Amino acid sequence: MIGIAKETRPGETRVAGTPDSVKKLIKKGHQVQVARGAGEQAGYSDAAYEAAGAKLIDPAAALGSEVVLKILKPSPDEILQMKKGAILLALLEPYNNDGTLAKLAEMGVSALAMELIPRTSRAQSMDVLSSQAGIAGYRAVIEAAAHYGRMFPMVMTSAGSVKACKLAVLGVGVAGLQVIASARRMGAMVEAYDVRQEVQEQIRSLGAKVIELQLGEEGSGSGGYAKELSAGAQQRQQQALAEKLKKFDIVISTANIPGRKSPVLILEDAVKGMRQGSVIVDMAAANGGNCPLSEPGKVVVKHGVVIVGLANFAALVPADASSFFAQNLVNLVDILNDPQGQLNMQDDIVAAALATHKGEICRRQ
Ligand code: NAI
Repeated sequence: MIGIAKETRPGETRVAGTPDSVKKLIKKGHQVQVARGAGEQAGYSDAAYEAAGAKLIDPAAALGSEVVLKILKPSPDEILQMKKGAILLALLEPYNNDGTLAKLAEMGVSALAMELIPRTSRAQSMDVLSSQAGIAGYRAVIEAAAHYGRMFPMVMTSAGSVKACKLAVLGVGVAGLQVIASARRMGAMVEAYDVRQEVQEQIRSLGAKVIELQLGEEGSGSGGYAKELSAGAQQRQQQALAEKLKKFDIVISTANIPGRKSPVLILEDAVKGMRQGSVIVDMAAANGGNCPLSEPGKVVVKHGVVIVGLANFAALVPADASSFFAQNLVNLVDILNDPQGQLNMQDDIVAAALATHKGEICRRQ
C-alpha cells in the first residue's frame, strides 16, 4: 500500500502525489491511500483523489503505509507514526545533520533521499532537484518582476519610452537556465555567469550574453557540478562581480555546490554599487546565501536594493511543482523493488539514494 502524506511544514504547499499520479500507480497494480486534505493547497481536492481510485485516510494513517511518498522530510513526531520496514521517498536534507536520519534508522524505515538520486541519463526522470529547480527559476523571475518598479521589455509609447531591464544570472545550472529563458521571454536583456566554462555554450544558445571573469582557476568539479574555489579565486570573483554588477537592474543568483554552504558572490560593496530600486533574488538564501545581506524567507531592502531571500520558490507554483514531483516518484516506484518484492539494492539508483536501511544510516565515500 502506497501512502501519500500531507505536508506540515509552514509554507510547503506541494504534495507528493496528484490524482494523475495516483491513477498511474493504480494502473501499475498498486493500492494508494491519500491523507485527507493533502492536495488542498496545490489545488487537488480529496474528491479528485477519490475519483482517481485512492482511499482517503487520516494524515497519521497515511504515514503508516508500507511505502510513504512525501515532499519534505518527516518531523520527529511524524517519524513515530511510521512502520518498521516501511520505505520513505522524500527530500531528506541528507547533508543536514539534525538527527532525522538517525530517527528514521531507529524506526527501521528504509528512506531514500531524493537529493541523492544520481545525475545520470537513466535517473533523469526521477530527478526532483531538476524538476523543482526549473520551476523555481521561473518563479524567481516573477518575484523579481514583482519587486522591480519598472517593466522588463523596451517599450516606446506616445507617453514616453522605457529601456529594457538588464538582468544578470549568477550560477547557471537547471534553475539558472530557466531564469535566462523566462526573463528573455519577458523582454529583459540577460547576461549570465557560471564558474563552469562548459555552461557558456548553453547560455549563448538561450540568447543571453556570457559574463566572463578571469579567476586563474577552473571551476568544474566532478559529476557536472562546480567545485569550491580557492580563497584567492573567491576574492577575485567577488571583486570582479562587484564591478560588473553595477550596470544591472536585477541579479538572480542560484550558485550552489552540493553538500556545502553556497558560495558568497555578492558582497555588501557590490550591493552598494547597484542603483536604487534594483532587485537581487538570492535563490541560495536558505543554504547560506550568495549574498550575505539576504535573509532566508524574507524580502529586505538594503542600501536601496530589494533583496529577496525566499526559500521555497517551487512551493509558490504548487500545482505544477507537485505534478512534476509526483511523476518523478512514480518513475522511482517503478524500479524500487526486485522481482521478489524486496528493495532492489542491486539497482544503482536505489543504492545511491538509500539514506537509511535495516536500522543503519547508509554511509557514503
Ligand atoms: P546546483 O544547483 O548545484 O548549482 C547551480 C549552479 O551554480 C551550477 O551551475 C554551478 O556550476 C554554479 N556555481 C557553483 N559555484 C559557483 C561560483 N562560485 N560561481 C558561479 N557559479 C557557481 O546545480 P544543478 O542545477 O543542480 O546542476 C548542475 C549540473 O548538474 C549541471 O552540469 C547539469 O547539467 C547537471 N545535471 C545533470 C542531470 C542529469 O544528467 N540527469 C540532471 C540535472 C543536472
